[in-house]
Amino acid sequence: MVNVNRIVYAVFQTPNLQGQIDHYTKILGLTLVERDGKVAYLSTSGDHHSLVLREGSEARCEALGFQLPPTADIGEYENQIRAHGLKTERQADPQPSIKDAIVFYDPKGTRIETFVQAVPAGVDFQRCGISPNKLGHVAFNVTDVQGVVGFYRDVLGFKVSDWMGDFFAFMRCGPDHHTVNLVAGRNSKMHHIAFELRDWSHIRDACDWLARDRIPLVWGPVRHGIGHNISIYYRNPDGQIIELFCELDQVNEALGSFEPRPSHQDFPQKGKVWEDIQFAANMWGSGPPDGFLE
Ligand SMILES: [Fe+2]
Repeated sequence: MVNVNRIVYAVFQTPNLQGQIDHYTKILGLTLVERDGKVAYLSTSGDHHSLVLREGSEARCEALGFQLPPTADIGEYENQIRAHGLKTERQADPQPSIKDAIVFYDPKGTRIETFVQAVPAGVDFQRCGISPNKLGHVAFNVTDVQGVVGFYRDVLGFKVSDWMGDFFAFMRCGPDHHTVNLVAGRNSKMHHIAFELRDWSHIRDACDWLARDRIPLVWGPVRHGIGHNISIYYRNPDGQIIELFCELDQVNEALGSFEPRPSHQDFPQKGKVWEDIQFAANMWGSGPPDGFLE
C-alpha cells in the first residue's frame, strides 16, 4: 500500500481574488508565482505553490494537494484508491508544476489531488510580510467525524495522533503531528488553514506585522496541549481563520512516540484521547472565543 506523505497545497475559491492575493503576498509574505486570469498560484518557497486561489462565487476550500513518495507508481495508486469503491480521475498537466495526478473526493466533498512529482518554482522566501516556512495543516468542521476520520485513515493512510474528547481528531501523514484536523460541526466546511513559522520570536513579529495593518488576533498566543504548538489565529479578507504556529510535535514512528519536549505531560508523549478539553486547547489558560470551533 502506498500513501501520501506530505501536504503540498490547498485550493480556495474566492469572490475577492485580488483582495486575497494582496493579503497573502503583502501580509503573509507568500510569492505570487503565476497568475492565469482568474487563478493565482502562491508559494511559501519550497513548493511551486502552497495556495491556489480561484475566482468564484463563494469563499471556500475546495481541494487539497498531497504528494506521494517518489517511488510510487501512480497507476497502481489509482487502483488502490478505486479498490475502496471510489471514482477517480487521472489528469494530465492539471496545474503548473504537476504533470500527472489522480483526483477523487473525500466524504465531505473536498477534492483530493494526489501526485508523485511537483517541480518547485525555485523562488526565495519573501523578505517582507510574515514569510512562513510552509503550509502546515488544514482543519475542517465535519458533520460525521468518525466517518471522515475513517476515510483519511483507511483510504489515504493517515494516522490519528490525538483525539480531543470524541469530537476533534488530529491526523498525520508524515512526521508533523497533524496535517488534517477534523472537528465535529453542524456543517462541513474548512475551519482554518495553518502555516508554520520558524520560532516563538517569529510569532511575535507576525503579531506586530498584523498589528501594523490593524488585523486583530482572534485567539492566542496559546500553547496547545494537543500538538504542543504555540499558535495565533486571525482572519483573512474572506473571513477564514489563518493559524500561524511553531514548535509542533514531531512524531517518531520508530519509537511510537513524539520527540521529547519540556512542554510535554507524558514521558514519553504518545497519542491519546485528551479528556481535559481546556488544557488540550491551551496549556497557558484562556480558551477560544465563543463559537470558535463552529
Ligand atoms: Fe490548527
